[in-house]
Amino acid sequence: MDRIVIRGGKKLYGTIRVSGAKNAALPILCATLLSDGASLLRNVPKLRDIDTTAALLRFLGRHVEVDAPLVRVTEANGDVRPEAPYELVKQMRASVLVLGPLLARYGRAKVSLPGGCQIGSRPVDQHLKGLEAMGAKIELRRGYIVAESGRLRGAEVVFDIPTVTGTENLMMAAALAKGRTTLVNCAREPEVEELGRVLNKMGARVDGAGTDVIHIHGADTLDPFDHAIVSDRIEAGTYMVAVAAAGGDVLIEGAPLEDLEAVVAKMRKAGVEIGREGSAVRVRRENAPLRAVDVTTAPHPGFPTDMQAQFMVLMCLAEGPSRIVETIFENRFMHVPELRRMGADIDVDGHTAHVNGGLPLSGAQVMATDLRASASLVIAGLVAADETQVLRVYHLDRGYEHMERKLAAVGADTVRMTGSGD
Ligand code: EPU
Repeated sequence: MDRIVIRGGKKLYGTIRVSGAKNAALPILCATLLSDGASLLRNVPKLRDIDTTAALLRFLGRHVEVDAPLVRVTEANGDVRPEAPYELVKQMRASVLVLGPLLARYGRAKVSLPGGCQIGSRPVDQHLKGLEAMGAKIELRRGYIVAESGRLRGAEVVFDIPTVTGTENLMMAAALAKGRTTLVNCAREPEVEELGRVLNKMGARVDGAGTDVIHIHGADTLDPFDHAIVSDRIEAGTYMVAVAAAGGDVLIEGAPLEDLEAVVAKMRKAGVEIGREGSAVRVRRENAPLRAVDVTTAPHPGFPTDMQAQFMVLMCLAEGPSRIVETIFENRFMHVPELRRMGADIDVDGHTAHVNGGLPLSGAQVMATDLRASASLVIAGLVAADETQVLRVYHLDRGYEHMERKLAAVGADTVRMTGSGD
């Protein structure tokens, strides 16, 4: 397995281009199941999760050509097997996003239960509750969700908590259901809004995606589509934090600043200069010291849980104490023991990490545990003395397109060693 080797201490200067959003591309790829014909996705990032989704769609009888940034999906001839096996779902929880489309299109689906993962138990009860309200009969059998329905019918579903993939699954199911569906207490993430745009292109009528109440008028059939995926706000935010941590002056092209307001506000409070230049964002910190600020993660438009680990590294560099509260996932502090090995002073008490910032970080061998934790370790490596080796880089490759190359292009000393990580 690969590792990334970083020699810290270099400031960053130049331009980084943000890729398409992973968490927008995944549901949109699954939405291709709702129609016949050929759909074309543009600006798709080159990532392991995209390849896993392509493999899943192929298993489901689609012809998928991945030639990033383009992906073409066509309905192949032959029998459809509306089944997502454990082998694929265990590699990527987002595979559960095929459940709504399969059920809506074929009236039956068998999808492996995703189970827990490194960041928490992550149940799918809200997805199932919604599909049942739309007329599906669902049983859990030998680790699989086994669902059957006639044509799904529109319903009113009130989510107990806002869930991103839950909202997306039900939007896709409702797009082919008979009548009108109203989803209440929806996730308001930009990726949900993006899926709404695509479903509208396909011929469904979706109103309110990106707000907490979404109305969907289902269609009898849906059309294939051609769509360019929005830029990845979390990738953009990650590079913004990387520049703030390492110091320097970098233009981040294609950064959707309007979707990053909570992150930008906290970074500015911490002393980082952030300015818009057309569709790009300039991030600058030369010699100004970083200030400690507290952060609590929340559903969008709050501070994203997907930026928590990266922001924690910034707080390790700020003088004084800060508090980081994780409210979305119960186990998303796996980066803390690794950052401690690099010299950080962080105590975890339940959902709260107390960071005592300002101590120097030193290079070490550290283990990536999940996608965003991996990104935080790379950022820590950029500022640590001597050499840092981030092992188990396959986690990073799930969600960042060539991170070591994008950072090296702005002056970081980052290289990938192939086949040598744990
Ligand atoms: N939850 C339930 N029941 C459900 C669904 C969710 O209790 O049926 C809980 C979860 O356990 C969690 C909370 O609701 O405590 C929110 O989870 P959500 O369902 O919104 O998360 P998700 O849809 O599984 C997506 C992203 C994650 C991101 C979260 C939160 C995709 C493919 N994944 O996950 O992205 O952290 O929303 O914003 O969109 C990542 O990219 O690194 C990543 C983990």
